[in-house]
Amino acid sequence: MAEETLTLTDNRTGKTYTVPVKNGAIRAMDLRQIKTSPDDFGLMSYDPAFMNTASCESRITFIDGDRGILLYRGYPIDQLAENCSFLEVSYLTLHGELPTESQLKAFEAEVKKHTMVPEFVKRVLDAMSPDAHPMGMLAACLAALATHYPESRNVLDPEVRWQQTVRLIAKVPTLGAYAYRRKRELPYVSPDDDLSYTENFMNMLWKMTEAEYKPNPVLAHALDVLFILHTDHEQNCSANAMRSVSSSQADPFASAAGAVAALWGPLHGGANEEVLKMLDQIGTLENIPSYIERVKKREVMLMGFGHRVYKNYDPRARIIKQTADQVFAVTGRNPKLEIAIELERIALSDDFFVSRKLYPNVDFYSGIIYQALGFKPDIFTVLFAIPRMTGWLAQWRELITDKEQKIARPRQLYLGYGRREFVPVPQRG
Ligand code: CMC
Repeated sequence: MAEETLTLTDNRTGKTYTVPVKNGAIRAMDLRQIKTSPDDFGLMSYDPAFMNTASCESRITFIDGDRGILLYRGYPIDQLAENCSFLEVSYLTLHGELPTESQLKAFEAEVKKHTMVPEFVKRVLDAMSPDAHPMGMLAACLAALATHYPESRNVLDPEVRWQQTVRLIAKVPTLGAYAYRRKRELPYVSPDDDLSYTENFMNMLWKMTEAEYKPNPVLAHALDVLFILHTDHEQNCSANAMRSVSSSQADPFASAAGAVAALWGPLHGGANEEVLKMLDQIGTLENIPSYIERVKKREVMLMGFGHRVYKNYDPRARIIKQTADQVFAVTGRNPKLEIAIELERIALSDDFFVSRKLYPNVDFYSGIIYQALGFKPDIFTVLFAIPRMTGWLAQWRELITDKEQKIARPRQLYLGYGRREFVPVPQRG
């Protein structure tokens, strides 16, 4: 068998170095020995936006971007979406194995015990304008919760870690629903232990004066599938934020607030909101070709298209398209679907998109379902954050127990001034 090493020749010095290759990677620290002189700092790798840098070893999620494959703990996403509940997938993501019946029941019961949020959180929401963006509300509430559970800072204690994991998974739908109701200036609805995770979320969103709210089972199932599809996605921007913030041993509530901020951006989870704005802007099928021309002239982006890792159809987008049909059978067809399907058809036959391997991603169709379910676009990214909390927590738990991880602290290539002497104001010219 060929030796698992890489031989490098430094043409500046003529010296040759051999470094090990493990799991298809060399260690960036192995480059540090490559120096032009004894006082040289040593060679670094330069990789803005982590285009080709693995920042961790992970056993949670696998993506084959060229073949459009997504596995959670080895299980294909379509099999999980077809056969599991969200909490079952959440358990799998956190623990690495699918739960037995009794393990699942125990996990569901544990989560149900922690769905309430302290009263002061409602006051935090009430202090914000109903016009505030719900992602800002969510981030603020998570940061506020960090102040309420001081023990959560003890991140090296496995029991404390588990307690915060359950608390965050249990409370994030409550926070999301309360942000939704704050925006509508409606009273908050307490969690209902008799309902499933997703049904309880729907109850907290939509219960009005009826004695008992009965979630539509087809819609509850669709929301559960959407939650499964959004559970984790390996080292994306918000997972990286979660890892980076918590690498300082910050508590998980504060770290999750950072992850929410990262997800909010329009290039990441915020894209689902932007897709709906774009479809509104396009308005009719006839306007699609001119919009595509504007994309090609770089005047606008085709939101919901493209991905750093997928260079093929995003498997989540395929499942969402199927789920949309089930939702529309109950809610009636969202007319935006026609525009989205035609937009996709035209884009996928245009060389601009084909040559760059730009395919629809998870956000392209999710907003159309959310809108059919009655959500306004500004809450869409919260619907992404609720299930992604599981992924962030799984990433955090893996990081904390990884002996190789330390505080995340990248290097830089400094290109600014060298040392220069201070000049007082009157002498500056
Ligand atoms: N519309 C038009 N052109 C695009 C798009 C797009 N949506 N996405 C990428 N391109 C072009 C880009 O301009 C570049 O062209 P060129 O090589 O000629 O300069 C080429 O395709 C490669 O793109 P990139 O910017 O190098 O790709 P990236 O890996 O840095 O960015 C992305 C990935 C998802 C940020 C980007 O595709 C994008 O901004 N998409 C729109 C926003 C979006 O849908 N985001 C959701 C991502 S999936 C779910 C999630 O993470 O939340």
